Amino acid sequence: MARYALHQVPIKVSVNNDTPVPMSVFKRKNVSFHENSWPSHSSLDFKIASSWTRARPVFCMSVQQASKPKVAISPLSLEDAKEPPLHLYKNKEPYIGTIVSVERVVGPQAPGETCHIVIDHGGNVPYWEGQSYGIIPPGENPKKPGNPQNVRLYSIASTRYGDFFDGKTASLCVRRAVYYDPETGKEDPSKKGVCSNFLCDSKPGDKVQITGPSGKIMLLPEDNPNATHIMIGTGTGVAPFRGYLRRMFMEAVPTFKFSGLAWLFLGVANTDSLLYDDEFSKYLEDYPGNFRYDRALSREERNRNGGKMYVQDKIEEYSDEIFKLLDGGAHIYFCGLKGMMPGIQDTLKRVAESRGERWEEKLLQLKKNKQWHVEVY
Ligand code: FAD
Ligand code: A2P
Repeated sequence: MARYALHQVPIKVSVNNDTPVPMSVFKRKNVSFHENSWPSHSSLDFKIASSWTRARPVFCMSVQQASKPKVAISPLSLEDAKEPPLHLYKNKEPYIGTIVSVERVVGPQAPGETCHIVIDHGGNVPYWEGQSYGIIPPGENPKKPGNPQNVRLYSIASTRYGDFFDGKTASLCVRRAVYYDPETGKEDPSKKGVCSNFLCDSKPGDKVQITGPSGKIMLLPEDNPNATHIMIGTGTGVAPFRGYLRRMFMEAVPTFKFSGLAWLFLGVANTDSLLYDDEFSKYLEDYPGNFRYDRALSREERNRNGGKMYVQDKIEEYSDEIFKLLDGGAHIYFCGLKGMMPGIQDTLKRVAESRGERWEEKLLQLKKNKQWHVEVY
């Protein structure tokens, strides 16, 4: 297996000083990847960019200028619907999509493997940021012989325009589920997770059964472009936040010009486990007044009690600011490990009490105001 993965980092090229077109550069990451034969993003995007520039005079194309303009997206009709698409494809009649690419996105020292998987849905399974796809792995359900496997849900990690900005793909961020024998502590390959391993092992051109899209809890409220969005993710729980942040900071969405604050707390094991870190770091550079990004590296950093640094410990560090933002109407989102919620609730309860507030009442109020969004698994 090759040691390097091509990690896409879109840059924006300004043409005529105002209209950006997408172009990608590929950054080498010291990780392994699955070879693929799909036309590379770089050659595809280069074709788009060069045909565009042939048609129009280019006055300026410098990296300096390229930092702020956003990426053009299409079709803009994806903005027209008033309600999110829901359950367009059901378990009995899934849509058959095609794998475009499977890329390992963690470094060699990450415990476990996480892959970024782009699926071509041909524009037939539209979705909004924060929704999930269902995937039905191939084969027979061992518990119900003669029946297909059960559907598994995956949060979509791209915006509705997909990673090619054309509304035809959806990306998933999938961690291989592995089973460790409690007695030996060793991995038991005979019990590995069915769907996550199917997805991470798939190759470009493979077919994949898609249901959905589903979910309304994690939709990004867009009524107020000045709103504050506090996002708390562990591991692959970062997926919906990648979609939100691309919509806020990367894409030129005519009907959503974000001018509020997005604050991402991401909990992962170590530096090699960071997900989409280049992308998020770029927003910090480009939009320092609108984006904050705090990472909790559980196996590299210590909390103030000497224990593992979890996202809830980071939240505690900033609790005063977070409480003020919530009082001002901020939305707060949690996505990822189910196990983080008790720790988060304990932390928030402790902070509330130290401020002379009752957490149960505050939580009820946040839920009533639709500020509290949780999707854990
Ligand atoms: P399964 O085959 O379902 O196995 C489940 C677990 O049991 C695995 O850990 C496996 O190791 C273990 N196991 C298997 N056989 C045995 C056995 N005989 N004895 C003991 N243990 C065993 N996941 C992501 O990676 N990314 C996402 O973005 C994501 N989003 C989600 C969103 C939602 C709303 C939900 C509900 C879940 C999401 N998930 C996500 C989780 C995902 O749906 C799957 O649950 C996950 O990928 C595991 O599925 P699997 O088929 O690989 O494992
Ligand atoms: P750790 O694995 O060091 O205990 P994963 O990679 O398994 O999806 O996990 C993502 C991150 O969430 C890891 O840093 C993991 O830490 C951390 N984590 C595990 N349990 C909890 C928990 N109860 N609360 C918060 N974070 C957690």
